[in-house]
Amino acid sequence: HRLLDEELPDAEVLVVSNREPYIHNRTDAGITLQTPASGLVAALEPVMRACGGTWIAHGSGSADRETVDAHDRVRVPPADPAYALRRVWLSEAEQDGYYYGFANEGLWPLCHIAFVRPTFREQDWQQYQAVNARFADSIVEEAGRDDPIVLVQDYHFALLPRMIRERLPRATVVTFWHIPWPNAETFGICPWRDEIIDGLLGSTILGFHTRFHCNNFLEATDRFMESRIDREHGSITLRGHETMIRSYPISIEWPPAALAGQAPPAQCRAAVVARYGLPADARIAVGVERFDYTKGILDRVAAIDDLLTRNPDLKGKLVYIQAASPTRSKLGAYSALQDETVRLAGEINARHGGDGWSPIVLSIRHHEPHEVFELFRAADTCIVSSLHDGMNLVAKEFVASRDDEHGVLILSGFAGASRELSEALIVNPYDTRSMAAAIERALCMPAAEQRERMRLMRDQVRQRNVYRWAAQMLLDAARLRKRERIVTAS
Ligand code: G6P
Repeated sequence: HRLLDEELPDAEVLVVSNREPYIHNRTDAGITLQTPASGLVAALEPVMRACGGTWIAHGSGSADRETVDAHDRVRVPPADPAYALRRVWLSEAEQDGYYYGFANEGLWPLCHIAFVRPTFREQDWQQYQAVNARFADSIVEEAGRDDPIVLVQDYHFALLPRMIRERLPRATVVTFWHIPWPNAETFGICPWRDEIIDGLLGSTILGFHTRFHCNNFLEATDRFMESRIDREHGSITLRGHETMIRSYPISIEWPPAALAGQAPPAQCRAAVVARYGLPADARIAVGVERFDYTKGILDRVAAIDDLLTRNPDLKGKLVYIQAASPTRSKLGAYSALQDETVRLAGEINARHGGDGWSPIVLSIRHHEPHEVFELFRAADTCIVSSLHDGMNLVAKEFVASRDDEHGVLILSGFAGASRELSEALIVNPYDTRSMAAAIERALCMPAAEQRERMRLMRDQVRQRNVYRWAAQMLLDAARLRKRERIVTAS
């Protein structure tokens, strides 16, 4: 907040993302509020609470419309309003083409190398373009000045930066791509690769989680576009407009809001043991994510199977609790994953379980942040085995939840978070045997070693928290704005 006042006086901040931070649903108990399972929302919401401004997003709850004023706006969070939320209403056809189709059957598998074939359909692309244009309209409507700072979020809006640049040439557009950017050969599959890159290069700054993804973007631009690339300074000039390509590793708020009011870890453990009817001395491993094929859920369950086969002493003791929030279930790849996970867990439970003990517990429903934190605090180990992931904030949340400095994080080397959390047990999720060995190692790790690793990771997340992520982007934006004004004035 202070940074905005000092470095960006009179700035107007608009955030635009597909997913909204608060979903209002109509239920038997009246209107209830849901916090969506989204790394993007988890990261940006505290920033908006601190900075204020307007967040523009797709209205997705069954009672969203009932909460807004005549301009489709509502002040949030409801308990302590800090910023405005403006909803854009999409028709079913727009949703199908833009969100399910182009964004989630095209760009999502394209950018995550998870071996799900990307599907590109002409009609999805048309909806994607149309919906990007509709969000551009909302931004222009919401902007009170001709030079707002617009923070464009994620792969749903690759065309938006260019559209904003055309309509508000003085705007500072900071775009953040929350998912990986693949190498040029892979990205080249997309029939509209030139339009996507061109759209993104309407940004003033384009951010990725890691240097590696920035380099992939530079390489793709070099391969497909006629532009000037300055690798030393990390910038691309296309038709006279320069875009900075920067890495900003995203993070979480510190301390996380969901930690407030949590019971001590021993009580969290007792609550989880009682909830799932576990043996009192159970060794608890947990996994928390959206039910997404990029998260490596099947690979993790297979590792538990392998571990129990090789170390039968753990039978009756080790429990793996998977909190999986259904997501994008309308798409075949997602419903197939859910079915396959349920089938495989059943098979493993039948093979190794007995006497009222099942090694795999699936909790398939939405989980609110305070529940997730209770689970983290109850766990001996948390397993994040993404096949590919931009950052992965579950890993950082687990670390933040353990103020007792206990618990072991097992983390995929293919998640951006592994660059920062190197004291985790780093695994290759494709290698079942070594994943099983890592789980075993986690369960045997002496308390002193757990503490040492956890301390280092907690320091890292505390220092490189999400306020710092936002501050770095905004400071870069402020510098470029000042420079531009000097140039225009002279
Ligand atoms: C990832 C994406 C976000 C998205 C989230 C949840 O983290 O980068 O943009 O919000 O998944 O997915 P959903 O489709 O439910 O918004």
